[in-house]
Amino acid sequence: MARRFLICGGCGFIGSSFVEHLWLKYPDSEIIVLDVLTYAGSLDNLGELHTESRLQFLEADICDIGALPGLEDVQFDLVVNFAAETHVDRSLYYTSDFVRTNVLGTDSLLSFCRKTDSPILQISTDEVYGPARENETFGETAALNPSSPYAASKASADLLVMAAIKTFGQKAAIVRTSNNYGPRQFPEKLIPYFIYLARQGKPLPVYGDGKQQRSWLYVDDFCSALLRVVDDFPTGEILNIGATREYTNLEVVRQLTTILECETPVNHVADRPAHDRRYRIDSRKFEQRYGGINERDLSDGLRQTVAWYQSHPEIFDRLRTQDVANFRDKHYHNRT
Ligand code: NAD
Ligand code: TYD
Repeated sequence: MARRFLICGGCGFIGSSFVEHLWLKYPDSEIIVLDVLTYAGSLDNLGELHTESRLQFLEADICDIGALPGLEDVQFDLVVNFAAETHVDRSLYYTSDFVRTNVLGTDSLLSFCRKTDSPILQISTDEVYGPARENETFGETAALNPSSPYAASKASADLLVMAAIKTFGQKAAIVRTSNNYGPRQFPEKLIPYFIYLARQGKPLPVYGDGKQQRSWLYVDDFCSALLRVVDDFPTGEILNIGATREYTNLEVVRQLTTILECETPVNHVADRPAHDRRYRIDSRKFEQRYGGINERDLSDGLRQTVAWYQSHPEIFDRLRTQDVANFRDKHYHNRT
């Protein structure tokens, strides 16, 4: 029988890439993409798929899913939740939006999935573990120690998923990934934002000393790994899927400017409050069960990312939407 998937947040950066992967791997499947289209989501991210008959787009809020006509009796083979407010900088000012979507939205999806007996995969982040010391690596049982309101909202959602598994025996699992990068990421995030600035020869606002470390995973490499859990759903489990190599922000900037062949200066600006110095997750549990994560080199991934943004400069227009422009005028005016 044809499978039926519900992908929440499927018009965002990782969600849209996952939809593409799912589309190709399951050619008979029916895919419903549910997305409220915040400033970070766009139908353009689905490209041609959006006009295909086996993909249905529902413009809706995950918080309202219980009341959506037509969905109440639908059992899905899998629901994947990418829908979230995701920008750490915004979470400092709009905390309640993060609590609403990331916490209450997850709770409402969990109820929906219990009612329709649909398994749910919650997409989470390495940020829930908080900062890792040098040589420290977090496995799935490490304590949750979030620093930012974003990370706290994601950790809260994870706790709700874990409670639903224990309390109701709910068919649910959590995947926590490290920083993803690649095509279609909203240009508020480090890599596309710096491509945007460098193209205009504007200085690059590096927070603090720029020696914070992140493990960058190309979005297609993450989605290829994630696809493996569809046929062998890890009910009740938490799995980390992270990149193995880590880079300082300054190193990422150096590689980017080399690829862009520009000598844009770095501007060390005030650090982000509670800025985690380093994230580090251990993906051995995932690899033992599903095989290794095929991870391209950062330099290759950055080259592909730069090429994509160079051929899609219209994505930078999204920085001019009212919501984003207001945020930038209010909070970023002293940076560049
Ligand atoms: P994104 O901001 O690009 O996309 C989020 C999508 O969710 C958008 O399409 C938006 O319109 C939609 N959305 C927001 N609120 C909604 C609501 N109330 N109802 C329905 N849709 C809503 O985010 P992303 O970078 O693709 O991240 C996807 C998921 O992966 C998030 O849960 C995030 O926490 C997690 N994650 C991301 C990264 C990363 O590096 N990007 C790393 C680790 C984990
Ligand atoms: P970001 O892409 O916002 O992801 P996250 O905060 O979820 O890791 O930022 C990645 C790193 O880049 C993080 O250490 C913050 C830093 N950063 C800057 O130095 N300057 C910027 O303008 C931005 C957006 C991020």
